[in-house]
Amino acid sequence: MRKYIIAGNWKMFKTRGEAVNFFLSVIDKLPSIDKVDSVICPQSPILRDLVKRQGENLRVGAQNVHFADAGAYTGEISASLLEELGVAYVIIGHSERRAMFNETDEAVNLKIKQALAFNLSPIVCVGESLSVREAGETKKFVSSQVAKALDGIEKEDVMGLVFAYEPIWAIGTGKTATPEIAEETCKDIRDTIKDLYDIETAEAVRIQYGGSVNPKNIDELLSEPDIDGALIGGASLNPDSFVEMVNAALNH
Ligand code: PGA
Repeated sequence: MRKYIIAGNWKMFKTRGEAVNFFLSVIDKLPSIDKVDSVICPQSPILRDLVKRQGENLRVGAQNVHFADAGAYTGEISASLLEELGVAYVIIGHSERRAMFNETDEAVNLKIKQALAFNLSPIVCVGESLSVREAGETKKFVSSQVAKALDGIEKEDVMGLVFAYEPIWAIGTGKTATPEIAEETCKDIRDTIKDLYDIETAEAVRIQYGGSVNPKNIDELLSEPDIDGALIGGASLNPDSFVEMVNAALNH
């Protein structure tokens, strides 16, 4: 049985005060991470403020990490610093970073390796654009993203990874993928991992769906056999809605 993982990707939203208030208001309402993994990924300058408040029921993740140990990379964040801060997860390869910050499949692969070397759990994002879907190329495109992300990564490390399937056309648009569409590609991701490694590895990897998930639609998405959680943008900003979505996972 894979444990559900519900992660909020706050993108470039919330001040420090708003973020701390969010934590204070949800922290007693979430189940233990023995039951569901709950994660919030804030902007990096306030990671420390939130890590101080993370506990047995909520973990903190970063939204990005660089693949080098250190160096002249203005504006970037090192994995060693994230580890030192006590950050648990890191989102890698979000489509916004791929599209707007030139993050390639090769960079995603290096970032995963770097995160693993510093005990950060990667949440690896993959997903197709509308034109790729309309051309009937989704499976090929997403499988290739997965294979390139995993290049040279050992089975033991892959088993601990989280993938997030996020169709670009569903992100921030209110157009959630239907559970059937989401399941189809999440299963393709698992099958790709099975082909690259073996069934044991594929069965261990957790795969989230992301793209306009909210308290109303999360239940039916989590009912699908290959969907093990959600990566949530907009709807994770509201504390009540975040708690509701984590509890939807708990009640599955
Ligand atoms: P959304 O964003 O839930 O606002 O669609 C999801 C994401 O980008 O991770």
